[in-house]
Amino acid sequence: MATRTIAEPYKIKMVEPIRQIPAEARKRAIAEAGYNTFLLRSEDVYIDLLTDSGTSAMSDWQWAGLMLGDEAYAGSRNFYNLQKAVEEVYGFPYTVPTHQGRGAEHITSQLRIRPGQLVPMNMYFTTTREHVELAGGQYVDVILDEAHDPTSQHPFKGNVDLAKLDQVARERGAETIAYLSVATCVNMAGGQPISMQNLQEVSEWARGHQVAIIFDATRAVENAYFIQQREAGFAGKSIREILRQMMSHGEGCTVSAKKDNLVNIGGFLATRNEDFFEKARGMVVVFEGLHTYGGLAGRDMEAIARGTYEMCEQEYIASRVRQVEYLGNRLRSAGVPIVVPIGGHGVFLDAKRFLPHLSQDLFPAQALCAALYEDSGVRSMERGVVSAGRDKTTGKHNYPKLELVRLTVPRRVYTNLHMDVVAESCIALYQQREQVSGLKMVHEPEHLRFFQARFEPA
Ligand SMILES: Cc1ncc(COP(=O)(O)O)c(C=O)c1O
Repeated sequence: MATRTIAEPYKIKMVEPIRQIPAEARKRAIAEAGYNTFLLRSEDVYIDLLTDSGTSAMSDWQWAGLMLGDEAYAGSRNFYNLQKAVEEVYGFPYTVPTHQGRGAEHITSQLRIRPGQLVPMNMYFTTTREHVELAGGQYVDVILDEAHDPTSQHPFKGNVDLAKLDQVARERGAETIAYLSVATCVNMAGGQPISMQNLQEVSEWARGHQVAIIFDATRAVENAYFIQQREAGFAGKSIREILRQMMSHGEGCTVSAKKDNLVNIGGFLATRNEDFFEKARGMVVVFEGLHTYGGLAGRDMEAIARGTYEMCEQEYIASRVRQVEYLGNRLRSAGVPIVVPIGGHGVFLDAKRFLPHLSQDLFPAQALCAALYEDSGVRSMERGVVSAGRDKTTGKHNYPKLELVRLTVPRRVYTNLHMDVVAESCIALYQQREQVSGLKMVHEPEHLRFFQARFEPA
């Protein structure tokens, strides 16, 4: 990576005040929230690193686009702008808008999975796996082993392990595979990218076995940036060229536009398969809205269309990923255990090494999120045993190898001084880590339990 500073390619035009509530109030707030950061009121949060989803700051060009919303039930011009942007940037001619990413996942899973079929993925994502299972499918993990090791320095830990794919085909038969779900910048692995070479190999495998690839392209731009920076032969290529080349290996994609695409709400399904498109636009009317709005206002679609061009600007994506790297490097140099290499959308604290005195049954990542909030008002998200849920057949907890706290950096929102405050809080906590105690779960929802589960000190 180049070593010169790259400043944010924008200046701040509007500000939203934030405040740190007193320590006593934070202690009360997290207890009232059942030690679950999803249940805090955002007003009680100082620096909000819960998620990079829907938390981006839009540009003046996007805000101007909101005023050009064509709020028609059918055939809004903003839909056509969105369709054009998706085709030009991702290369898929057919687009079905949805209210957010999981709307597109729902439609894809229902249309493409027959009960009993398998969906190999380069690690699970919470909502993606839930929709696969609701459609009667079974998720199979085919990511490299290195992805489950927070200390492995592999530059492309999002890669698919072809030997694992071969094993699935050998043992269960390729015809039992509904499709391959390939994620870009794999969220649960710590925002780790997949390489172009691996994509090429996976796509040859898929063609040979007559299996379709459907991307979760939610963080494809951050992935394209890592390919540009790390993979031989891509240094001189633009983000748009790399993204198009990545997507050329798939039949389609689902996207939560709340991430890469720099908007606060929205998603879409895009494909080059006309038959799939016809079926998807037949189904979207049942769950989301007419196929030319999919649960979104015209102005929302305009903001996504504009964000879709902006997300590919070199200066923007470089400064975005480098800000995450800045936070990660501050923690790493203080000896705080984090997932390496530093990911695209956040820094992931390794709770197993941070709190070695807590077994996974005491929910160390959840406890660390709560402790971080108490310390400074910084909000983070658990990505460990709580997020992994229970095995649908045995009913037992899934115990993932990765027990992580995600410090997710919203796009274009915070400065590096905010990152310093976050780093100082994590470092202070690490220095008194043995004082952090575990939790017990006292309320457990059936689906996606991490959102609404409640805990008490164990
Ligand atoms: C990788 C990935 N896929 C899918 C989703 C689901 O998107 P949404 O939250 O817009 O429904 C998310 C975000 O939560 C995500 O990170």
